Amino acid sequence: MHEGRFIAAIDQGTTSSRCMIFDHDGEVVAVAQKEHAQHFPKPGWVEHDASEIWRNVQDVVAESLETASLAAADLAAIGITNQRETTVVWDRATGEPVANAIVWQDTRTDAIVRRLGEGDGVDWFRDRTGLTLATYFSGPKLVWLLENTPGLRERAGAGEVLFGTIDSWLVWNLTGGPDGGRHTTDVTNASRTLLMDLRELAWDEDILERLEIPRGMLPEIASSSEVYGTVAGLREGALEGVPVAGALGDQHAALFGQTAFDEGDLKSTYGTGAFLLLNTGDTPVASQHGLLSTLAFKLGDAPAQYALEGSIAVSGSLVQWFRDQLGAIDSASEIEALAASVDDNGGCYFVPAFSGLFAPHWRSDARGVIAGLTGYVTKAHIARAILEASAWQTRELIDAMVADTGIELHELRVDGGMTENSLLLQLLADALDVEVVRPHVVETTALGAAYAAGLAVGFWPDVDALRANWRADATWRPTVEPERREREYRQWKKAVDRALDWVD
Ligand code: G3P
Repeated sequence: MHEGRFIAAIDQGTTSSRCMIFDHDGEVVAVAQKEHAQHFPKPGWVEHDASEIWRNVQDVVAESLETASLAAADLAAIGITNQRETTVVWDRATGEPVANAIVWQDTRTDAIVRRLGEGDGVDWFRDRTGLTLATYFSGPKLVWLLENTPGLRERAGAGEVLFGTIDSWLVWNLTGGPDGGRHTTDVTNASRTLLMDLRELAWDEDILERLEIPRGMLPEIASSSEVYGTVAGLREGALEGVPVAGALGDQHAALFGQTAFDEGDLKSTYGTGAFLLLNTGDTPVASQHGLLSTLAFKLGDAPAQYALEGSIAVSGSLVQWFRDQLGAIDSASEIEALAASVDDNGGCYFVPAFSGLFAPHWRSDARGVIAGLTGYVTKAHIARAILEASAWQTRELIDAMVADTGIELHELRVDGGMTENSLLLQLLADALDVEVVRPHVVETTALGAAYAAGLAVGFWPDVDALRANWRADATWRPTVEPERREREYRQWKKAVDRALDWVD
């Protein structure tokens, strides 16, 4: 075992990259964060520059080490967690991306997805991958790049370019890049590509053939917790020799950081989007109610654990929109006081279908609506409707999970940056009629990646040691009458119908 006393986690998210350093108790020792540019070249298109992301990751690693006065020898391992589905193709020899990364929110693959869904396509893909055919996933984004980047298909066939989600891109760069970097991805990220057989945990040859994706450009699929390689060739020799020992897509990492290791454990994370994951044990559960089947995690050679997922595309990003596009507030945190300045939503409901609607509807043609407006409504009411939108969307997904599995929900464990907003958590408790519990470390995404890496190198002996680190910070209890809750939920659903009906 590497002798370090700390574990570093790189959390590469949709809007920023972070490095967090944790001690043995799972406490945060240092954090550094840097935002990257969002490129919107056309309506519905969202791109990132993967080179900028890699530069920022190196910056935040260096800054967090400096803040804590630590060197490579102090770290036992490094883990990675990342925005999922975002698709990168890069040149194996130079390490340069061949195009901007296509981000998970991007809907340019709508026509490709419709083409793939013809005939029995929807069921065919769902049976193999556990996923609904949607623009959200990586496979169609890779197809788009192969079809629209001159010469790329030939270069892919000749083995000159590599495909990866952001975890792959970072592991390859961290372990040496063009000088022998390891081209790998973990099962949780692979489960979001629409290319992996969910039971075999291997690339599905029939899907690759149907999508005309050259096998040689795909990474090797590994577990979420094992040593993929050691850091080599980072700027100024930073972290040289530290094992890169864990990787999980961010939502799976949050589940892991919440120590949701057992069947029936559930968490809900509020970041750019919001994502509920329910651990379903060692077999995948097929949803009849619009949820996705996915991996929870796989620790080394141990059997994989599966999850049901409810995905909400727009959550924290709606608050950013309220701030940046409408200029209604100066900083995102201001929404809480504004929404709390009124007692209710004044009759208005906001359905933020900016990228269509994800679970449980999966309608890329849905569009956002604000319903129920009267002259009485102020921007404070709209602020409240914005927060309620995350609560009601969570309720829709919990209803779907209950219908699929019959679980009884006793409490909801929440995390993510947006859970600093207490009003949101009160609205959630009211919408769901359960207690909402926030852990003392809300950055469970980074913590989960640190846990996966730490387990791989023996920094923590087993998952029981991790359970001992979890503790609640605060709990929110339901306060509204059942009659009012159900009436408002009916109103919300009517607003959703308007969003779904928008396009001719
Ligand atoms: O599937 C997309 C998800 O991984 C993005 O997470 O934290 O950026 O909302 P986040």
